[in-house]
Amino acid sequence: MNNFERIQSVLRSNPRKWLITGCAGFIGSNLLETLLKLDQTVVGLDNFSTGHQHNLDEVRSLVSESQWQRFSFIRGDIRDSEACKQAVSGIDHVLHQAALGSVPRSIEDPVLTNDSNINGFLNILVAARDASVKSFVYAASSSTYGDHPGLPKVEDRIGRPLSPYAVTKYVNELYAEVFGRCYGFRTTGLRYFNVFGKRQDPNGAYAAVIPKWIATMVADKQVVINGDGSTSRDFCYIANAVQANLLAAMNPDGPASGIYNVAVSDATTLNQLFDYLKAILNANGITVTKSPAYRAFRDGDVRHSQANVDKAMRELGYAPECRIYDGLEATIPWYVQRISKEAALEAGQ
Ligand SMILES: NC(=O)c1ccc[n+]([C@@H]2O[C@H](COP(=O)([O-])OP(=O)(O)OC[C@H]3O[C@@H](n4cnc5c(N)ncnc54)[C@H](O)[C@@H]3O)[C@@H](O)[C@H]2O)c1
Repeated sequence: MNNFERIQSVLRSNPRKWLITGCAGFIGSNLLETLLKLDQTVVGLDNFSTGHQHNLDEVRSLVSESQWQRFSFIRGDIRDSEACKQAVSGIDHVLHQAALGSVPRSIEDPVLTNDSNINGFLNILVAARDASVKSFVYAASSSTYGDHPGLPKVEDRIGRPLSPYAVTKYVNELYAEVFGRCYGFRTTGLRYFNVFGKRQDPNGAYAAVIPKWIATMVADKQVVINGDGSTSRDFCYIANAVQANLLAAMNPDGPASGIYNVAVSDATTLNQLFDYLKAILNANGITVTKSPAYRAFRDGDVRHSQANVDKAMRELGYAPECRIYDGLEATIPWYVQRISKEAALEAGQ
């Protein structure tokens, strides 16, 4: 039995009460699905700014009725301190995911990103401290590495932020650390590196690269690559991120304000990603005929990103089980099914 399986068996025999903020979003809804399947009691908080009711509906369809009865949803905003207080009441473990993602969104509207990601973060942090929760795990980001040239990225070597979004995620870490120092409140920040998987939104101007490209390629439209395609990322399948959250939440003896990379320690270029997607779509019966188009590099984007995950492995028992190709093979059928369902609905079938 590995560490993660051990934690799952502990949770099954000793259920807890969890708060997932951002539970209608991509990562939040995958955490919700996992915890409900482990018979946990879960409170979800979301304002549906980028999350969707259909993500919650899908989770409902994947768990039993008695598991779904253990979920209660608060439609609310982390910028509202009363909503945060209500959400943390009686909670053992907080998994804080709610934030406005996307570097370009933050460049276009830094005030909105600041409000959600810094003011909202502080509200939930204060509420969790006051409720004396057993653990507080929050979504940090690889964007905190900014312009530091070192590769692979090691937690204590960061550069200057390259976008307002990166500033907000770094400020989260600073607040979390200071809450350890000033109030003895323990927190764990998980620096996610390009997480992907089912329920990641393919639509809108700020969609992440994998769902956006899958939707484009399924429609046999041309993918546009920012830069020459040599930009590389450490794409992390959602199951690895879920595993890291549960391990971090159940690690009461960890450091007072731990920060951990959550990735695989692989570097995949955008050109490789295109080839992988094309091959896997082909295996799923979708022929991609168009080659990608290339345009200028995008402002605020880091050129290369690859994590060293030794610290999470050593201190949390994290063991990323799924590398990019396997993760894409697990993810693509979900998108193909979803996109064909939407097309059928549009055609009135
Ligand atoms: N997906 C990634 O690759 C990645 C990488 C690094 C960090 N992160 C961080 O992980 C977290 C989850 O990201 P995701 O990819 O699931 O994004 P997502 O947009 O799918 O989910 C975010 C959720 O938070 C909710 N939300 C946003 N602002 C809110 C507010 N003010 N009050 C209440 N709810 C609010 C949204 O409605 C949404 O459901 C975010 O904090 C994000 O910054 C994600």
